[in-house]
Amino acid sequence: MENQLKTILAEVKKAVAKATPADYETLRVEYLGRKAELSQILRQVKDMSDAEKKTLGRIGNEVKTEITNLIETLNSGTGQGIPAHFDPTLPGIAPEGGHLHPITQMTEQLVELFGTLGFSVAEGPEVELEKFNFDLLNIPADHPARDEWDTFWIRNVDGAEDNILLRTQTSPVQLRYMQDHKPPIRIIAPGRTFRYEAEDATHSSTFNQLECLLVDENISISHLKATLQILVDSVLGSDTKIRLRPSFFPFTEPSFELDAWSQGKWLELGGAGMVHPQVLKNGGIDSHKYSGFAFGIGIDRLVLLKHGITDIRPLLSGDLNFLKQF
Ligand code: PHE
Repeated sequence: MENQLKTILAEVKKAVAKATPADYETLRVEYLGRKAELSQILRQVKDMSDAEKKTLGRIGNEVKTEITNLIETLNSGTGQGIPAHFDPTLPGIAPEGGHLHPITQMTEQLVELFGTLGFSVAEGPEVELEKFNFDLLNIPADHPARDEWDTFWIRNVDGAEDNILLRTQTSPVQLRYMQDHKPPIRIIAPGRTFRYEAEDATHSSTFNQLECLLVDENISISHLKATLQILVDSVLGSDTKIRLRPSFFPFTEPSFELDAWSQGKWLELGGAGMVHPQVLKNGGIDSHKYSGFAFGIGIDRLVLLKHGITDIRPLLSGDLNFLKQF
């Protein structure tokens, strides 16, 4: 039996020497498969005497390992690292590429659009002072309108000049910009905003707004409406109807809510209005000479509308299976 094993081993050596990787499977079946001579011999070992079992079992396993190693050299390639089954005609596996988040895509689209209209991008901090988020926007501490913005307050820092909060809107950027610049002013301020409220399909405690501020001589509501129409046309398609519904914001007069007509109903996109003279004054601008319009619209809302998504939560969740679709 030992001789039989040696003969098989010699045979395999010869066969492998002549073989190419393409023969791997045939040789594997022939010499290591269930019906191979080697397998048959090894199966007999269990019926032998204990002494025979010991020696033949050991030799049998050694030969098997050696044969396996010999045949596997064909599998691991010809020494050039090419697997035996490598088929160069198969299409390759394309590496998965990333892409921008749909909210970032929308923001970039808006920045580009407003760029063509002559607006530049302004920024403000997400952790904001109370005076910019509220007081200078004509919302003093005891004003009931503060209830409109459920606020995340940050614990007071010793020696801080003012109370600190997470901005509830991008409107504070208006004040920061007016205090540093003279009219004509034409800016947009996209950014993250925060509200301390319960989350559901259309509300999230973190969301994104696009603030817009234009201050110049003789600015009227028609400028506001035309600008909004251009925005909505560009993002949602040129046949989208919009309307300005009377509303109230302490920092605009008159104030409006912007609605867009989509899939059979009016959908609220954000707030708008003519900048309140007091706010112009707080920004150091002569309210007799200049007027302006401002609006703040929900960037996430635009993304929902554009893609026909009904729930905002997966959009902000980082769920790649969801986000890969856009
Ligand atoms: N800041 C307002 C809000 O978040 C929207 C708004 C911006 C309204 C500018 C008027 C002018 O609700």
